[in-house]
Amino acid sequence: MEKMIIHGGAPLRGTVTLSGSKNAALPIMMASLLTSEPLVLSNVPRLRDVKTAMDLLTQLGVAARWIDDHRVELHAAKVTSHEASYELVKTMRASFVVLGPLLARTGRARVSTPGGCAIGARPVNLHIAGIRALGSKIQFRHGYVEAHAEKLTGGRIWLDSPSVGATENILMAAVTARGRTVIENAAREPEVQDLARVLVAMGAKISGAGTHVIEIEGVERLHGAEHEVIPDRIEAGSMMAAAAITGGDVTITNAPIEHLEAVATKLREAGVTVEANGKGVRIARNNGLKPVELRTLPYPGFPTDLQAQMMAMLTQADGSSVITETIFENRFMHAQELARMGADILMKGPTAVVRGPSKLSGAPVMATDLRASMGLIIAGLAAEHTTELSRIYHLDRGYEALDAKLSSLGARIERAQEQ
Ligand code: EPZ
Repeated sequence: MEKMIIHGGAPLRGTVTLSGSKNAALPIMMASLLTSEPLVLSNVPRLRDVKTAMDLLTQLGVAARWIDDHRVELHAAKVTSHEASYELVKTMRASFVVLGPLLARTGRARVSTPGGCAIGARPVNLHIAGIRALGSKIQFRHGYVEAHAEKLTGGRIWLDSPSVGATENILMAAVTARGRTVIENAAREPEVQDLARVLVAMGAKISGAGTHVIEIEGVERLHGAEHEVIPDRIEAGSMMAAAAITGGDVTITNAPIEHLEAVATKLREAGVTVEANGKGVRIARNNGLKPVELRTLPYPGFPTDLQAQMMAMLTQADGSSVITETIFENRFMHAQELARMGADILMKGPTAVVRGPSKLSGAPVMATDLRASMGLIIAGLAAEHTTELSRIYHLDRGYEALDAKLSSLGARIERAQEQ
């Protein structure tokens, strides 16, 4: 196992280019099941989760191969299995969105339920209710969801909450269903919009992606397509917080600023310069940080996937920041680790009060999820001496070449073998 060693204190300066979005790429890869023709995707990040998705598709009979560094061809000429095993789904929950496309293509699917997660319970009831509303029979047996439908039929679905994964699963199930499907209170995330774009390129009829109501007119079949995955807005926000905490000056050449409104607003409130710059964005900080209040919300609200990184940054603000996590019930695991580095964080239910500025001092730390790990790296960049982050397999699930990118900006960071 590897760990990351961060020697704090160097301001980040220079330019960096984002990788493709993990959370867009994963469901889009599953869409390859919907057609017998090849789906060619570019700007696919080289991540552990992408490898897991390739493994899952391969097990289902899809010919999955890298064409070059960031291009993948997925060809589901025949689907030879109906099962997503517990082994795979437990390592990557996003595997559960295979249910919709697998069922749509073959009429049946057996997919392990994901179980609990480090950041919250994360049930899949909304996915199931949606797939049922399209006429599928569903049974729960031996830890698996077994779905069966000769032909799915369009339906009207109102989601209790705008779940990203449920919207994606239902969308992929509905594109070849008989008739019209309406998803109300749908997720509006850019990743859902990117999935809808690739489905339309494959011949699907979808309107309203990016709004609360998505309408799908089922078509007989989908065909192959080529698609470029959007840049990763969460990687962008992470780099922005890293640049800000170190008092740096960084330009992200391909930051999707239109997807980062809430993040840019909070950074500006905190006294950080955020300027749109051609196709990218420049982040700079010369003065002290100011405290802010923020609440995580579904898109276009502030993303839960950037809460840990903002918390780390706000340890350096002059005053009390208030962070409320409304999406996941257990996503403050990083707070205790930040406290071990000297942060002053008061927890009360879903709210954390971060009192700054605290002098951070490097320490051995570890995290239980991807974004928490990134939060600790950000704290390490501003801490005195050395921070050692263990369990970095979490980071490798979702940040491509993070150490190389941060090093190119002047950070002193390296990987080492865990003793
Ligand atoms: C996606 O997860 C992302 N993952 C998550 O990113 C992200 O944190 C989350 O959306 C919210 O933005 C991928 O896209 C692969 P949800 P997802 O369904 O789809 C509840 C990361 O670090 N809910 O929108 O699983 C659920 O418990 C990851 O990259 C139900 O109650 O999130 C949560 O409280 C972590 N029933 C809320 O909705 C359901 O059936 C939002 O979850 C489904 C969800």
